[in-house]
Amino acid sequence: MTRNSYSMVESHAVLELADVARHYGDVKAVDGVSLSVQPGEVFTLLGPSGCGKTTTLRCVAGLETPSAGRIRINGETVSSVDRHRFVPPERRNIGMVFQSYAIWPHMSVFDNVAFPLQLRGLSKNAIYDRVERVLDLVGLEGLGDRGATELSGGQQQRVALARALVYEPRLLLLDEPLSNLDAKLREHMRTELRALQRRLQITVLFVTHDQAEAMVMSDRIAVMRAGRIEQMGSPTALYERPATPFVRDFLGRVVTLEIIARDARATVAGEPGVELDLPPESIPSAGRLVFACRPEDIRIAPPAAPGANQLCASVESVTYLGDRIEYTVRTAGGRQLTVLGPKHDPYHPGTPVSLCVDTRQATVWSP
Ligand SMILES: Nc1ncnc2c1ncn2[C@@H]1O[C@H](COP(=O)(O)OP(=O)(O)O)[C@@H](O)[C@H]1O
Ligand SMILES: [Mg+2]
Repeated sequence: MTRNSYSMVESHAVLELADVARHYGDVKAVDGVSLSVQPGEVFTLLGPSGCGKTTTLRCVAGLETPSAGRIRINGETVSSVDRHRFVPPERRNIGMVFQSYAIWPHMSVFDNVAFPLQLRGLSKNAIYDRVERVLDLVGLEGLGDRGATELSGGQQQRVALARALVYEPRLLLLDEPLSNLDAKLREHMRTELRALQRRLQITVLFVTHDQAEAMVMSDRIAVMRAGRIEQMGSPTALYERPATPFVRDFLGRVVTLEIIARDARATVAGEPGVELDLPPESIPSAGRLVFACRPEDIRIAPPAAPGANQLCASVESVTYLGDRIEYTVRTAGGRQLTVLGPKHDPYHPGTPVSLCVDTRQATVWSP
């Protein structure tokens, strides 16, 4: 019974990877990746350069032959090393957009987008209808006659997206599709791409090394390191409950304090009088541990005596970030920490302050 319902859920996945590996000689570019992507989901591979994101995507597309493992799309095995099965890319019905979006410069916008349909032998009328519809969808209505290179970077990226969407692929692969755009446009396109994906209910395997982009774009994220998935989960779960220091550091900045724990409380090494309440499920053992929280979990406040969840410090430097202020502070025990504060009524360098720690989202590690 359980087994049946499990396999039913499995068979609904748009994409399934089971122990996929791709080795180049001694280099384990992808080293045993398993994941499944559900219909309408944006699933993101996030990790530093060289961790195997592009190679994984190329295996899914059929542009690489895996050294091991199995890949299924809509329940069909498209690649299996054990079964010597390999479906070529053009028969996988996948749309792809890469960082270098490679639109054809000598062709018009219309012809760029129409090309995949011409390859598939659709009639002229059907091609016209579908191209016009997808140009509307990506916000390029009326620009079909333009030369592709007469467009801005953002518009060229939309042409690439339209070309990938025009034949209604069952899965869209996006490999750092926004990284060639300038910062402002990149943020705008993130939101736009996410809205379009939601409207079309299209299933996406997304690749990026940018954690902020991953947070905005994804339903689920797999953090990759050296060819393997280190942790998989929703953006909030990864940010708030990272399973390893690598995931924690990759997803954003952290403040760490060495602590000595007993039960649900801890003293902070070298900070007399300071006690921290620990989230009960976070304590791996008593004794010397590392306490980690996000800078935004620490509030900078007027000076007060050290106490529960409160450290004494003084401001060393102040950086205006526009919407917030970043402070470098030195605690009474000599630690340098970076914390954030509101942009109004800033504290000046040399001012004594207290640091109020919201410990509810903290994680605790063995050193
Ligand atoms: N064709 C290849 N031959 C040899 N090594 C490769 C090849 N393609 C990728 N690699 C290596 O595999 C690792 C993963 O690369 P890649 O998948 O491009 O990483 P990412 O996209 O995460 O930056 C890197 O160490 C890279 O140098
Ligand atoms: Mg890459």
